[in-house]
Amino acid sequence: MNVPEGYYVKDIVEDDLPQILEIVNYIIRNTTSIWRSTEDTLEGRKAWLQTTKAGGYPAIGLFEASSNRLVGFVSSGPFDSSEGYKFTTECAIGFRHDYTGKGLGRFLLQHLLQVLRDSGFAVVIAAISGTNQGSSRFFAREGFSKTGFLPGIGFKNGQRLDLELWQMNFADWAPK
Ligand SMILES: CC(C)(COP(=O)(O)OP(=O)(O)OC[C@H]1O[C@@H](n2cnc3c(N)ncnc32)[C@H](O)[C@@H]1OP(=O)(O)O)[C@@H](O)C(=O)NCCC(=O)NCCS
Repeated sequence: MNVPEGYYVKDIVEDDLPQILEIVNYIIRNTTSIWRSTEDTLEGRKAWLQTTKAGGYPAIGLFEASSNRLVGFVSSGPFDSSEGYKFTTECAIGFRHDYTGKGLGRFLLQHLLQVLRDSGFAVVIAAISGTNQGSSRFFAREGFSKTGFLPGIGFKNGQRLDLELWQMNFADWAPK
């Protein structure tokens, strides 16, 4: 799995957070992929990064080499804080809207899955809005299976929303 030409991968650091905000807040404003209308703040994202790193979870960016611009990022965190879920992680992915549909998301998700496999996780969950069928196809293509469906559990912009849970079990996983 090669990094797409013209891009590089790097762990997210605090200096990257204003660009994470641009990506996430665009998605919040314009889609029902994230079920919030209140935009993220820099303070909130700093706390997110600290918690993510302290928990041993990844936050990885894809950067355009010519501009050093963050074009997309991927991360994961706990699916549930109970000990019994310690080998399960929930992932998140987001790209600048003008960089979607170029195969970059596919590369970064595959990269994340390798990192998570190497870190000893057994299960990866993607929680996807029922309105986001493009994203469901995106995860299905990487081998995720739809294992959960929670009808009408969410609400945004006057619309009742379904939640789909998509799951990847690493077949070769064994507890360490
Ligand atoms: C979903 C997302 C990460 C996919 O990354 P990407 O780089 O656009 O995906 P790729 O180019 O590797 O693959 C394209 C596939 O992604 C899916 N897709 C989902 N949203 C898309 C979008 N806004 N534009 C283009 N493709 C999208 C489609 O299935 C598409 O395949 P298709 O052309 O056969 O329909 C990205 O589009 C994105 O950030 N969307 C907004 C935020 C979001 O929905 N995040 C996921 C929440 S679970």
